[in-house]
Amino acid sequence: MNNPSHFRSHPNGSLRLDHVGEHVRLVGWVQRKRNLGSLLFIDLRDYSGIIQLLIDEETIVPDVKSEYLISVEGRVQAKAVPNKALATGEVEVKVSRLEVINASDPLPMIVDEVTDAGEDIRLKYRYLDLRRTPMQETLRTRSKIMNVFHRFLEHHQFVNVETPLLTLSTPGGARDFLVPSRLHPGSFYALPQSPQIYKQLLMIGGLDRYYQIARCFRDEDLRADRQPDFTQIDVEASFLTQDEFLSLMEEAIATVFFEVKGITLPRPFPRLNYADAMERYGSDKPDLRFDLPIQKAPLVLEEAYEKAGFKQAFTRVLVLPKALATVTRKILDEWTVFVKPLGLKGLVLLKQEGGQLTGSFAKYFEQNSPQLFSSLGMQEGDVALAATHDDRITLLSILGLLRLKAATLLRVIPEKTFAVAWMTDFPLFDHNEKGQLVSAHHPFTRPKDEHISLLDTQPEAVIAQAYDLVINGYEAGGGSMRIYDRALQRRIFELLGMDEAAIERKFGWFIQAFQYGTPPHGGIAFGLDRLTMILTGTDNIKDVIAFPKNLKMVGLLEGTPNTVDAQQLDDVHMEVKNNEE
Ligand code: AMO
Repeated sequence: MNNPSHFRSHPNGSLRLDHVGEHVRLVGWVQRKRNLGSLLFIDLRDYSGIIQLLIDEETIVPDVKSEYLISVEGRVQAKAVPNKALATGEVEVKVSRLEVINASDPLPMIVDEVTDAGEDIRLKYRYLDLRRTPMQETLRTRSKIMNVFHRFLEHHQFVNVETPLLTLSTPGGARDFLVPSRLHPGSFYALPQSPQIYKQLLMIGGLDRYYQIARCFRDEDLRADRQPDFTQIDVEASFLTQDEFLSLMEEAIATVFFEVKGITLPRPFPRLNYADAMERYGSDKPDLRFDLPIQKAPLVLEEAYEKAGFKQAFTRVLVLPKALATVTRKILDEWTVFVKPLGLKGLVLLKQEGGQLTGSFAKYFEQNSPQLFSSLGMQEGDVALAATHDDRITLLSILGLLRLKAATLLRVIPEKTFAVAWMTDFPLFDHNEKGQLVSAHHPFTRPKDEHISLLDTQPEAVIAQAYDLVINGYEAGGGSMRIYDRALQRRIFELLGMDEAAIERKFGWFIQAFQYGTPPHGGIAFGLDRLTMILTGTDNIKDVIAFPKNLKMVGLLEGTPNTVDAQQLDDVHMEVKNNEE
């Protein structure tokens, strides 16, 4: 849609051969300027794209520089030599009037497709960075994703409900961001880590189906796919089985991929259970765009480890096809340096070279190398990376990370491919460093019905009705079916180490709601930021958020966090101790 206004008759990016001869009024920023003798060319950019302006010596124009905001009038004409790189490349506008709306100071960064600026400068001058086409496209993709979810969920009778941002601190995976109360000295609100409890209360409140594009806040160490302030597409439904719910959510995701990118995802999405994914890929969010599975060590390899004298309880192997030339001594050294701090003593490299087993470990094998090759499915030119450890999950997780490094090195990850899968059958509990039981997902997750009886005897063995959506190695969403009876919810809190008084204090109000006819319910939250990363092909979450924090959790543009004046602290009954800054 053109939306003509006083300022412009057309968006710059919309002009085509059809417009030739039309008189147009345009606005935009000067992206580039070229002086060719008596002719001046300007690339004029607005949100919709770039149009070339042509100014000849008859038109007197003020001196304009990069990022000057100008207004022009002129006539559209066909270009003698079209520029195939631009959507508007077949036309240009011959300018009859040019006015500067606002000048620009010299720029701290190049504002173009590709910029010269490092991340700090881009974040400090985010408003300039946002003018760049890739940033504009990303934010538009993000907006489209939200829009498709809104439409899909509304169509399926989900109700968009907002839940409080000033809420309660509840124990969870991450630290809360706290907000001191002025009216209640010494009391705090917490910003929500997710709307989890509220969405369950909405089910108890009979809403049947809820959704919200919800801002969530978690004070945890940042990573390339984590921000302290992020967005979930948060969903909850009553009276659906896990299969029914996943099938509906799968349709939502498939609709997003189709409408935003024109991609048809094969359905049903494959399902992988947690135990198998850990054994095969060493991860609960495996990148399934390629295989490279982890394998159990054949007996001959176990024996070789025995002979070498450093066999531990579990031995696993990663076969890398056609990797003889790529996995050099130097790479092996780099990988060894990588795995040591994670808990492995070392890596063994076995190579099939000229029909023979080679590598420093070959001496621990006798005539058994054909057996090794056949058990591992190794061919000429393949290498195998082996490792041993007393803790199976540690070993698998490290090999899972090496699997990703190796795939990148060997270039076996196909581009522009989306491998989508549901991960299911997670354990209900994990252990923390102190050996205590903690919820693997959150304490409201329902155990499998047939496992409820194991809670008292073997809680570690209990499998949850929980699931994650995994795309290209990212956890793009996670959820579960919920507990809906009071006694079971209490029992879970007890197993998590809370006594009666603690349960009452922290969750009494919530458990109380369970006694008034709670419906069976379950839900999920998709990470909007991660979905946008996946659909725009970036591995940096900061690229998909208009105003993100850097890795030190600092907002470089506005200067957050900041000190406040004494009066503000006084108002909320706070004093800062050891403020060294
Ligand atoms: P969970 O904690 O798994 O579940 O979060 C759901 C999804 O949110 C995204 N996500 C993040 N994205 C960016 N930065 C972060 N710091 C961050 N943390 C999480 C991920 C993740 O899969 N209430 C439950 C959901 C439910 O049970 O319905 C919850 O929050 O994509």
